Amino acid sequence: MTVQGGDPRIVQLTHRPGVIDLGWGHPDPALLPAAGLREAAGAALDRLGPDALAYGAVRGPAPLRDWLGVRIARTEGRAPAPGEILITGGISHALDQLCTLLARPGDVALVESPTYHLAVRILREHPLDLVPVPADDGGLRVDALAATVATLRRAGRAPRLLYTVPTFHNPTGVSLDPARRRALVELAAAEGLTVIEDDAYRELAYDGPAPPSLWSLAPPGAVVRLGSFSKAVAPGLRLGWLTAGAATVARLADGGLLDSGGGVNHFTACAVAAFCGAGQFEEQVADLRAAYRARRDALVGALREHLPADCRWRAPAGGFFVWARLPDGLDAAALLPRAVEGGVAYLPGARCHLDGGPAETLRLAFGLYPPEALAEAARRLGAVVRAAG
Ligand SMILES: Cc1ncc(COP(=O)(O)O)c(C=O)c1O
Repeated sequence: MTVQGGDPRIVQLTHRPGVIDLGWGHPDPALLPAAGLREAAGAALDRLGPDALAYGAVRGPAPLRDWLGVRIARTEGRAPAPGEILITGGISHALDQLCTLLARPGDVALVESPTYHLAVRILREHPLDLVPVPADDGGLRVDALAATVATLRRAGRAPRLLYTVPTFHNPTGVSLDPARRRALVELAAAEGLTVIEDDAYRELAYDGPAPPSLWSLAPPGAVVRLGSFSKAVAPGLRLGWLTAGAATVARLADGGLLDSGGGVNHFTACAVAAFCGAGQFEEQVADLRAAYRARRDALVGALREHLPADCRWRAPAGGFFVWARLPDGLDAAALLPRAVEGGVAYLPGARCHLDGGPAETLRLAFGLYPPEALAEAARRLGAVVRAAG
């Protein structure tokens, strides 16, 4: 039961024979729009000729920025002004760029815990001093954030940044409660804290529209929202965008990285502009929502059937992840080798905490496999947990 891909000379994804690996937060290669992107790349070359292959405008090609501006205004009710949008190399790249330009080594950055473990690597490489803020079933605890900011201020270590994934969180699947969204942007504006909103999963909403972005709620300048085409179109594009205050966007646009190399991934951005302009983005997102909703339902239904009654998990309303809790006393990291022997793998939840965190949690990603494989993975996981309990 393997999926396409898996040649480590070409792609990041690798397969272990016989293992259904729910540790990868990757989309299924079978769902990537290869034909539409081939057509779009041709259309970009036909339309722009050599301009599609030149050093690009530093903020990204206007057709893509314009398309995004119109779509964001329609779907989020707030239109970014032309100076408030920048094409990026996706979220990871933009996060790295922001740390370079908005922070200095040793600055304090607040991070909700648990969080996207690979963003932590980027933040640490700068190196920023990371301070965790707890989250619960309603997402980031804004009361705890306020207390942490106050404590740090008293110690003369005012934080510069907050990194957060408020919508269809990786790894928990939770979306930040509406009242907390408003409280968070007010607190950030009052404290001069820049919120970096990682919005990777906004388009993958399965039970109605995604909640409003922090960026759409915040006073100008308080939030930098990072968007990505990785999950809604294809991760190999390495393309995304950000919406932020005009001063922040200007800072990035004037930085050495873009001055030297031009706009990020210019040809890809021109091709994606053609893809989006031809209506293919909306079609792709509609197809993905249907496909991933079915996968979420298959996994959650099978967990209900196969996991012992004292396990806990929640069906996410969007994104890629089910966050599960094993019975007390079981350690997900220690159990993983036995799970792999039993033909299933996952990400131990402790990896998503800055400081270890609860050992009995684990993250199950449902993007990569079709429903029948997910049901089989849940059956195998249930057998491993029962044998260990
Ligand atoms: C929360 C989150 N942010 C960012 C990324 C990576 O985004 P990009 O591919 O745009 O760099 C991922 C990928 O899994 C993710 O889960």
